[in-house]
Amino acid sequence: MNKLLGILAIMSITASCVNATAGDDVNCGTANSAGGMASDCNGCGANSTIQGLFSASGASNCKVTDCMADPGSNLNGWMCKSCNNVSGANGAYYQGMIYFEGFQCVVQCDPGSAPDSNNICQAVGGGQVSCGTPSFPFSTDCIPCVKDASKQNLFSPNISPNCSVKDCTVDPGSDLNGWMCKSCNSNLKAHSVYSAGTFFSGSACVASCPTGYVADSNNNCQATNGGDVGCGTAGTAGGKATDCKGCGANSTIQGLFSVSGTPNCKVTDCTANPGSNLNGWMCKSCNGAFNAHTAYSAGKLLSGTACVASCPTGYAADSNNTCQATNGGDVDCGTAGTAGGKATDCNGCGSNSTIQGLFSVSGTPNCKVTDCTANPGSNLNGWMCKSCNGAFNAHTAYSAGKLLSGTACVASCPTGYAADSNNICQADPISTTSSYLLTLAFTILLLCLLI
Ligand SMILES: *[C@@H]1O[C@H](CO)[C@@H](O)[C@H](O)[C@H]1NC(C)=O
Ligand SMILES: *[C@@H]1O[C@H](CO)[C@@H](O)[C@H](O)[C@H]1NC(C)=O
Ligand SMILES: *[C@@H]1O[C@H](CO)[C@@H](O)[C@H](O)[C@H]1NC(C)=O
Ligand SMILES: *[C@@H]1O[C@H](CO)[C@@H](O)[C@H](O)[C@H]1NC(C)=O
Ligand SMILES: *[C@@H]1O[C@H](CO)[C@@H](O)[C@H](O)[C@H]1NC(C)=O
Ligand SMILES: *[C@@H]1O[C@H](CO)[C@@H](O)[C@H](O)[C@H]1NC(C)=O
Repeated sequence: MNKLLGILAIMSITASCVNATAGDDVNCGTANSAGGMASDCNGCGANSTIQGLFSASGASNCKVTDCMADPGSNLNGWMCKSCNNVSGANGAYYQGMIYFEGFQCVVQCDPGSAPDSNNICQAVGGGQVSCGTPSFPFSTDCIPCVKDASKQNLFSPNISPNCSVKDCTVDPGSDLNGWMCKSCNSNLKAHSVYSAGTFFSGSACVASCPTGYVADSNNNCQATNGGDVGCGTAGTAGGKATDCKGCGANSTIQGLFSVSGTPNCKVTDCTANPGSNLNGWMCKSCNGAFNAHTAYSAGKLLSGTACVASCPTGYAADSNNTCQATNGGDVDCGTAGTAGGKATDCNGCGSNSTIQGLFSVSGTPNCKVTDCTANPGSNLNGWMCKSCNGAFNAHTAYSAGKLLSGTACVASCPTGYAADSNNICQADPISTTSSYLLTLAFTILLLCLLI
């Protein structure tokens, strides 16, 4: 009996010696669904060797089984925390040193780092992003990294042209932008605003830009739509256009637009190649839009099959932003040239060289007014009326018709007048003759009465 008690006593002493080297409870165990002891200590270390240094304890806790043992390269934050207050613990542990930084237990993380949920000090600075003002060897400043230059100290300059967010643990509020999302996204201590991704949607960090948006070189999502252009069918004031039927000649082109504030529509995706669907409204909507296809680079008007900044000489933009020739129609006042060729001159088109100079040769024997948008002034003649009436954007002098009566174009000559071969209304020789005969008859009658 005494022997047994002795053995029990030794066992108990041994047990209490073992207990004496165990660490404090730390909350890295897996909670047991039934409550009580943790079901495992898998949360206490990165691999099973480290986890095996812990034993389960009460209320989802675990503790280092033997703080006297040298942890070697297995030392981590949970071990620092569990063993820090154990007297006689291995030299790796020291009272109050509850965090792990670099290769050792520490009381506090270095400035520029903060403990994570595993009691490991993690850098709070973000990764390098190339938004600094380049210099050698370090960026001069981080002004291009922020919207407001006075906020550049949210970043610290790094190897040119890089900068990095100083403290990703802080919510930047309205200063959040694409560079910050990118710099802080991979930071282990980053504030939750940074968790979703490396691009900025305009309100939040996102993994990829939403449909209709693409990321610009600042990692900010930019809409790919064009600007509003007034080719929609007007809807109610303050609402949207009801359709975009005025924006293109067929439903395929119209389908490239989406309705906007009435009566506007806009090209939905200016980054796409418009191909043969390109028209003046598309040039106007997409020119200058973010990341627009190169088809839109040159300008807001369509000339032939390309966007241009201004219509070429002899052309003017119509209401669909399309360059239209300003010349008149062919009229046969030229001097005939070879068949299939052009008239040799326009000498038949006007009484002096000034007027003739307003025409250009066309398919023989035709000529046409070169610019019907210009005011013809006193040079107006019948050929000009005929060539320019109905021409695109023609001067109002030409609106009334294709014949000249007096000093104005008319649709038809007034009563008693007929058009000559120069499209000029001339007093009708038949009615002139008849009025002459009438006068003669009266004169004869008068003479008879007198006699
Ligand atoms: C467990 O992780 C520690 C710390 O990273 C490492 O030093 C050790 O070699 C690892 N052990 C095994 C068996 O992988
Ligand atoms: C450290 O251990 C002492 C003695 O066991 C105890 O009184 C104290 O509360 C412990 N401190 C911490 C921070 O655990
Ligand atoms: C600068 O930042 C870029 C982008 O994050 C990175 O790829 C590059 O390695 C950095 N430059 C240096 C010298 O670290
Ligand atoms: C402008 O385009 C619309 C739609 O294609 C068309 O119906 C209209 O006639 C065009 N206007 C002009 C002046 O060409
Ligand atoms: C729509 O019009 C464009 C430009 O004229 C043309 O290239 C395209 O083939 C047309 N599409 C359809 C479906 O008719
Ligand atoms: C050419 O003829 C028109 C019409 O008669 C006239 O108004 C104009 O002054 C003439 N120009 C010259 C340079 O003679």
